[in-house]
Amino acid sequence: MRLVTVDSPLSSVAVAVIGVGAMGSGIAQIAAQAGHEVHLVDAIEGAAAGAQARIGTTLASLATKGRITSGQAEAAGAHLSIASSIGDLPQCALVIEAIREDLADKRALFAALAESQPAGTLLASNTSSLDIERIAQGLLHPGRVLGLHFFNPPPRMRLVEVIRGKATSDESLAAAEELMRTWGKTTVRCTSTPGFIVNRVARPFYGEAQRMVEAGVADAATIDFAIREIGGFRMGPMELTDLIGQDVNLAVSTSVWEQTGRDERYAPTEFQRRLVADGHLGRKSGQGVFRYDGAGHAIDALPDKVLAAELASGPTLTNPLGRTLAMLVNEAVDLVARSEASAEDVDTAMELGTNFPKGPIAWGTEIGFDVIATQLGQLDAAFPGGRYRPSPALTWKER
Ligand code: NAI
Repeated sequence: MRLVTVDSPLSSVAVAVIGVGAMGSGIAQIAAQAGHEVHLVDAIEGAAAGAQARIGTTLASLATKGRITSGQAEAAGAHLSIASSIGDLPQCALVIEAIREDLADKRALFAALAESQPAGTLLASNTSSLDIERIAQGLLHPGRVLGLHFFNPPPRMRLVEVIRGKATSDESLAAAEELMRTWGKTTVRCTSTPGFIVNRVARPFYGEAQRMVEAGVADAATIDFAIREIGGFRMGPMELTDLIGQDVNLAVSTSVWEQTGRDERYAPTEFQRRLVADGHLGRKSGQGVFRYDGAGHAIDALPDKVLAAELASGPTLTNPLGRTLAMLVNEAVDLVARSEASAEDVDTAMELGTNFPKGPIAWGTEIGFDVIATQLGQLDAAFPGGRYRPSPALTWKER
């Protein structure tokens, strides 16, 4: 039995969200606004009620700002209810798990869901780093298990990465994508590869800048200026990691590095390790790469604009923009060549998930993949060890 079918009005199906912290409550809000009955479950006593109240406040404030009508806010709020446990849930078309990032906890939860929900229920994890295949392993009807990777904050971020494990059925993927469309989301597909698309392809955006500062090419503000003002990125890598949290960014880098067998390409830098060890976590701690005032403005980000312009038009080894783009394109091309995601989905994911001004495949096409291969060859010769090895796909004639 498939609970989501093309014939049923999609908003009429019930949805459950397990773990209603930062991500789960945002996801529950979207589902309620899309018209579903949404059931909230959390392990901590009172957490689901807290989330329900928080979502109600958010909906009311959206109505005050005129983004939705007060009738819509009330209707969405009325769709939320609390279930005391997994066993207490009614039959749902979709269950989204957003509990803490721990494989054993997620596996235990999915085992319970697989027993209590019918075979047609889609069971989705919002994991940002765990392998969907390991979550689905040994479960009853593993074809219905998939990843739905939302971005923070879920109501505002349009992208959802739909993650396919080896056992995930085409039918489950299509049903989940259809549902996400009705929630106003843009979906991309990816295999359960470390970091999926966004967290994998974006690694060098941070790593190259950190290495250049470490090597004394320029200070952090100058590197940021080159990438932001000359490269057209919304934010420089330094200010962006301060916003994300240096600890969060280091955890993602470390996770991708570990899961790829400590591939040199993803090795965390001393620069970020030191920031975290010193408690310089970014805006949230008042200091990261930069120091922040009470309003969240960096007070010591003073770029040398002349130097930034010189570097950005100079040779590859000391060119913040050239190095970053070459590595982003390399990562994207490699992902596509391994058939983890399509070129179109990689570009869409990077534009929507990281606000990049252009997708890396489009960038590579514009710059020339042969040029990128030459630049990586120069970097590889200067810094041997594998980080800068060009993807074999860069030299393909047809892409
Ligand atoms: P959080 O710590 O804010 O919320 C987790 C919630 O799950 C808490 O309310 C906790 O009480 C509850 N919980 C923990 N174990 C549970 C269990 N066994 N059963 C029921 N509830 C349980 O965490 P956050 O940030 O919302 O992350 C949740 C998931 O989303 C993680 O897998 C994370 O990797 C992923 N994610 C997080 C993003 C972020 O920016 N925070 C972005 C994308 C994905």
